[in-house]
Amino acid sequence: MTKQIDLGGRFTLPGISMRLERMGYGAMQLAGPQVYGPPRDTNAAIAVLREAVAAGINHIDTSDFYGPHVTNQIIKQALHPYRDGLVMITKVGARRPEDKSWVHALSRKELIDAVHDNLRNLGLDRLDVVNLRVGGVMAPSEGSIEEPLTVLAELKRQGLIRHLGLSNVSPGQLAEAQAITEIVCVQNLYNVAHRHDDGFIDDLARRGVAYVPFFPLGGFTPLQSSALDAAAAALQATPMQVALAWLLQRSPNILLIPGTSSAEHLRENLRAAALQLPAEMIAGFNVIGGGPEQR
Ligand SMILES: NC(=O)c1ccc[n+]([C@@H]2O[C@H](COP(=O)([O-])OP(=O)(O)OC[C@H]3O[C@@H](n4cnc5c(N)ncnc54)[C@H](OP(=O)(O)O)[C@@H]3O)[C@@H](O)[C@H]2O)c1
Repeated sequence: MTKQIDLGGRFTLPGISMRLERMGYGAMQLAGPQVYGPPRDTNAAIAVLREAVAAGINHIDTSDFYGPHVTNQIIKQALHPYRDGLVMITKVGARRPEDKSWVHALSRKELIDAVHDNLRNLGLDRLDVVNLRVGGVMAPSEGSIEEPLTVLAELKRQGLIRHLGLSNVSPGQLAEAQAITEIVCVQNLYNVAHRHDDGFIDDLARRGVAYVPFFPLGGFTPLQSSALDAAAAALQATPMQVALAWLLQRSPNILLIPGTSSAEHLRENLRAAALQLPAEMIAGFNVIGGGPEQR
């Protein structure tokens, strides 16, 4: 299928040949309410995935704990056998009990089982990129990640994983991880209103490591800001497009994985890659959410 639109240019993950379009797709919204159980309309979820890939998106962020299992099974149903160059980026480190909470699953057995669950439900022999997810639901919590990461590094040596990334980590935890194995990407909470990682992003950019913000549109509580509304009106765009365009312009190592269950929102989000924000507008966004929290 031919790529129709500019997806923000490409970024090559460090040390490897995977060239990712900067605009990707986050699959978490494809499961049922609260990311639990099946969606109301599986065919609609399949259509969104197929449209994303047809538009040229070449990385999908997922996890086997979305659903659980459901999201990966829908991805497999929609896209398997996968097109050459389509990169699945999954994550391990959590599980979903029946009360729908998010609980750590970082023991050796839980991590090994999670990798095998991802392989089976995605229909793959090897996972392209696995993020080790630690910390709280919204932010990192300090502490060693050596034990769980060592398990994943072992699975990488066995050939079940090609590359490793981290999610919900601090700069100190990244440094600890890089002494154990190569880390190609970091996935933390970041958006125009939540700027805690500003300094971290700049540091990762200098080192060529990808930064993949989760909740780029605010997640379960979508971004609302008069500055975004005004910018959108001035550019004849939507506030969500402005929020995504801002991220693409923020730093060249930022890759986007906006999540949507809607084909209409997918198209809107893809068009954000072509939106140019003037410098004075970008400067104005520093007031959203109290401005940069750490630079
Ligand atoms: N590492 C982690 O701990 C972690 C945590 C959370 C998420 N993630 C990953 O990050 C990805 C992105 O995060 P997310 O999906 O939670 O949050 P998000 O991308 O910030 O926002 C998703 C929400 O915005 C809505 N939306 C999407 N496009 C829209 C548009 N153009 N206009 C209006 N509303 C729009 C979606 O609803 P509709 O479905 O109605 O479009 C959904 O409610 C996830 O898919 C997941 O892969 C990782």
